[in-house]
Amino acid sequence: MLLRQAHFTTITVVCIPIIFAIFVFVSYFHDGTLNVIPSHLSLRPSHDEKPASQNDPSHSTSAPSTNATPAEKPHTNIENEEEPPQNVNSPAAPSTPSTIDQKVFPQNDWLPARPIDPSCAHLPDLSKVLLIIKTGASETYDRLPTQFMTMARCLPDFLVFSDMEESIMGYRVYDILGDTLKEVKDGNSDFNLWRRQQECLVDQKSCQKWSNVGTEAWNLDKYKNVRQSDVTYTMRPHYDWYIHIDADTYIHWPNMIDMLKPFDPKKDYFFGSFEPSQYGDFNHGGSGYILSQSAMQKFHANSSVEHFDHEARNICCGDMLMTIAVRENIGLANTNMFPTINGRKPFTLPFGPRQWCQPIATLHKLNSEEVGSIWQYEQERFVNATDGKPAPLLIKDLYYKYFAPRLTDKLEDWDNMYDDYLNNVWYYIDYDDKSKDWEHFHDQKYVWHRRKPKDHKHDEEKNAHKSFENCKKACDVVDECLQFRWQDDACAMSKNFRLGNPMEHKDGKERWTSGWAVKKIEKWIADQGECQVKFPEA
Ligand SMILES: *[C@@H]1O[C@H](CO)[C@@H](O)[C@H](O)[C@H]1NC(C)=O
Ligand SMILES: *[C@@H]1O[C@H](CO)[C@@H](O)[C@H](O)[C@H]1NC(C)=O
Repeated sequence: MLLRQAHFTTITVVCIPIIFAIFVFVSYFHDGTLNVIPSHLSLRPSHDEKPASQNDPSHSTSAPSTNATPAEKPHTNIENEEEPPQNVNSPAAPSTPSTIDQKVFPQNDWLPARPIDPSCAHLPDLSKVLLIIKTGASETYDRLPTQFMTMARCLPDFLVFSDMEESIMGYRVYDILGDTLKEVKDGNSDFNLWRRQQECLVDQKSCQKWSNVGTEAWNLDKYKNVRQSDVTYTMRPHYDWYIHIDADTYIHWPNMIDMLKPFDPKKDYFFGSFEPSQYGDFNHGGSGYILSQSAMQKFHANSSVEHFDHEARNICCGDMLMTIAVRENIGLANTNMFPTINGRKPFTLPFGPRQWCQPIATLHKLNSEEVGSIWQYEQERFVNATDGKPAPLLIKDLYYKYFAPRLTDKLEDWDNMYDDYLNNVWYYIDYDDKSKDWEHFHDQKYVWHRRKPKDHKHDEEKNAHKSFENCKKACDVVDECLQFRWQDDACAMSKNFRLGNPMEHKDGKERWTSGWAVKKIEKWIADQGECQVKFPEA
């Protein structure tokens, strides 16, 4: 008994003061005297700080200056700042698809308050544009977190549409296919992945690893475009511009805003980058397309989402269908903003006469590493700019950043040849070689790559197909050849220059070998001189 009492006294006398001391110690540091987290990286703005950008409403963490009527709630992802999280991952969440409620549109579940972020300070007012990201559950975690930290970081509002309901780091991701007509979904193998994703008890990667998710996700994708634009207008009717992209699209915001500036959103516009098809040129989804307020309003008022649910079954792609839907529903033709709206990325963009001086607003097919890299490059340009306003980012800047430091005359196990434009790539082959099925030549899916010149101006061209060295000699004498590639008895040349991709190692003549006419490229660049910065005109 005595022993126990002594024990109790020890606890009272020794431990309580220690606990109190720890409490005082922690509070002291917590108050920020020795805060190890720099204030600009902490999740919540410190109240006794007045950051420089506070006087600009578009960069503040409070509600942005949207063009909403006063009765409207401001359109911001962060308006729930003071509210508790709304059951982000409630175990009671229904396993059946929750369709998007047409009357009540909750904001994103919960977002950390955005700090007053120096990385946003250079950006123009983004409160009049709405970003709409289209994605699929098979890729959301590979792509979105990086986008949230970089390209989408400074946006007061954006929407994410997918093929499964999710909450990703507090951002709500809508299942846009929940409302797709039952008669279109039932018995339709395009929706197999959609059904399996909902049945998954753990993470999607573990559930889907035995199936060809890439193809299945592609098949689902075309059902999203028309519906997501329609629902977007119900949810967010007050923006000037509605910018639709994929999760692997990067937007350079200063150029995007400058590109849109001359246009009146009260007129009908449907901007994009043209891709040819049997239905005419359509606005390529991965490059991004943009509808004006007026066009969105009409599209929504006259939308026939059910009709296009059915139509989606018979067409390859949602962006193609969207272009048809805009044309059919509101009689609006699409407008080409290439190359400022662009479907390539820095490592694979063909530089040359068509792509050099123009400002760049979108890039596409970037993985997270590439998104991080270009965002960081953007930041660096702003830090370096003496007046805080760097010159518009031009396509040639991407050359200097991503290609010039790697430019060399030869790379093995490398392919530099993909080119988007007719007549820019041509091949030298041996027509008499009967062992080759030249009609089904390896790049034959790009039919315009099959030009095989027969009337050679130079003797070197006759032997170009024989080896890499011969191909190089031929390139040296053909003025417009800026790069070449030799593989499997074919010498390919191009008027453009791009870095390209590494290829799997092959032996002998199967090996991909790429070359660049470095001197000619440097001369071509010098000949261009200073750029006249010019945005595309509608
Ligand atoms: C809506 O669609 C109908 C039928 O396609 C068409 O006749 C009508 O002109 C359209 N309305 C608008 C505002 O474009
Ligand atoms: C920024 O300036 C530094 C130092 O002059 C330079 O090394 C760097 O290349 C510049 N970066 C950009 C993107 O201009």
